[in-house]
Amino acid sequence: MYWGSVLESSRAIRRGEPIVGELNGRTALVTGGSRGIGRAIALRLAAEGALVAVHYGGNDAAAAETVALIDKAGGRAFAVQATFGQSGAVDQLFDGLATGLADQEAGGLDVLVNNAGIHSVSSIGQLTESEFQRLLAVNVSTPVFVVQRALPLLRDGGRIINVGSAATRIANPLQIGYTVSKAALAALSPSLANELGRRGITVNTVEPGVVLTDMTSEWTGAPEAMAGLESITALGRIGEPADVADVVGFLAGPQGRWVTGQTIDASGGTYLGPIMPG
Ligand SMILES: NC(=O)c1ccc[n+]([C@@H]2O[C@H](COP(=O)([O-])OP(=O)(O)OC[C@H]3O[C@@H](n4cnc5c(N)ncnc54)[C@H](OP(=O)(O)O)[C@@H]3O)[C@@H](O)[C@H]2O)c1
Repeated sequence: MYWGSVLESSRAIRRGEPIVGELNGRTALVTGGSRGIGRAIALRLAAEGALVAVHYGGNDAAAAETVALIDKAGGRAFAVQATFGQSGAVDQLFDGLATGLADQEAGGLDVLVNNAGIHSVSSIGQLTESEFQRLLAVNVSTPVFVVQRALPLLRDGGRIINVGSAATRIANPLQIGYTVSKAALAALSPSLANELGRRGITVNTVEPGVVLTDMTSEWTGAPEAMAGLESITALGRIGEPADVADVVGFLAGPQGRWVTGQTIDASGGTYLGPIMPG
């Protein structure tokens, strides 16, 4: 289990000492850090030494659990609540972030991960206007204004990482609204990268394929759906949150310094083309 291995490696790293990692002394904000991919990202960045603001929408228990896992591993984190799509959410997020950073005697931001997102299953004929507006509000408008609010805090050499979806590459008529929202999010990275590059800030989008989280649990619970997905994935299995978190961790760390303005597929090679029997 991923959490276990993170905890173990963190314990091994620290041996009673504070974590000394690639992100020691850095701060990170992970939106949607309470569950799934966001939790794995929060743990990954904390294991590298970052102080992590774990944002969440409404699940207090899940956010508290992420913070507790980080705490237990010797890392530092605090939770920040803001329900994206509701009026004032971005202000609430940054008020909570400022308070949390001040409590921890930290200031400024080094890594922003726009991970919080929602999904919907609708064909073009089924998609309602309110459903699409909500997808755009949570998956696109909020990250745009989170970036805008983060920029004055973001230190030179910082990182912005957006979590998109491989759905933008794989035509699926039943995800039309979601796909369009994630394509819009990915479109943010190149322009921002050009604007922020002179400050050494990189901006990239990571696009996961299907990952085992609450978002996908309804249909990944069906063995035939799992088998179908595995059969179209080069690496032959469904993604785990850690598979994506490690890519984000690379981009967030010093080794990711020369990658910017890019969309990076993190799907284990889902739907690359016909898979030939070996
Ligand atoms: N799972 C996949 O197969 C997959 C594939 C491609 C891309 N992605 C993308 O990866 C990201 C994370 O997905 P996941 O599967 O980890 O999702 P998840 O398990 O459903 O977790 C969603 C996270 O986002 C937060 N969130 C959801 N709606 C929110 C809102 N309105 N306001 C504030 N926070 C909100 C949740 O907070 P609470 O805990 O408080 O509810 C939670 O932390 C999403 O952007 C998703 O589109 C996922």
